[in-house]
Amino acid sequence: MERQYTRLDEARNIIDPIIKGIRDEESKRGAYVHLYGVGLMASLIALKRGYSREIAELAEIAGMLHDLLTYVDRTEDTDDHAHKCADYAKEYVLKHLNSFSDEELDMIYYGIYNHSDKHVKGHWFDEIIKDADAAQHALRNPMEDYFYQRPRIQQVLDEII
Ligand SMILES: [Fe+2]
Repeated sequence: MERQYTRLDEARNIIDPIIKGIRDEESKRGAYVHLYGVGLMASLIALKRGYSREIAELAEIAGMLHDLLTYVDRTEDTDDHAHKCADYAKEYVLKHLNSFSDEELDMIYYGIYNHSDKHVKGHWFDEIIKDADAAQHALRNPMEDYFYQRPRIQQVLDEII
């Protein structure tokens, strides 16, 4: 069977050149590890919660975009980074996607926009992105106490493991 070209490929065709264009090698490495990692976790969590593969695809894209600006521009103030990353994603990626409805693009946008609000429970789609972000940080180094002690880690690990 031939490999399908999916909507995720459409998104990656825009996201990957942005990551490849990051000049600082350490930022580029961080972008690949964290953004792809959160995308994968978001897809896993979406499916584990019983959502469709279409939703998992949207979650994967939101995960890949959720911190992109912070790697592209290291000088950006990290305060308020979620909102800035959402606006960056809209301008440079979401606006250029043709296969998604406005509602789907809004879900991705708000998933990014709200991902720093980890102390509150919000829309179910936003929760997927927050939990994926938390889980990626914890699982990339299981012996690092700093991330394990963060709220929501134990809950999400209990859910997915
Ligand atoms: Fe993140």
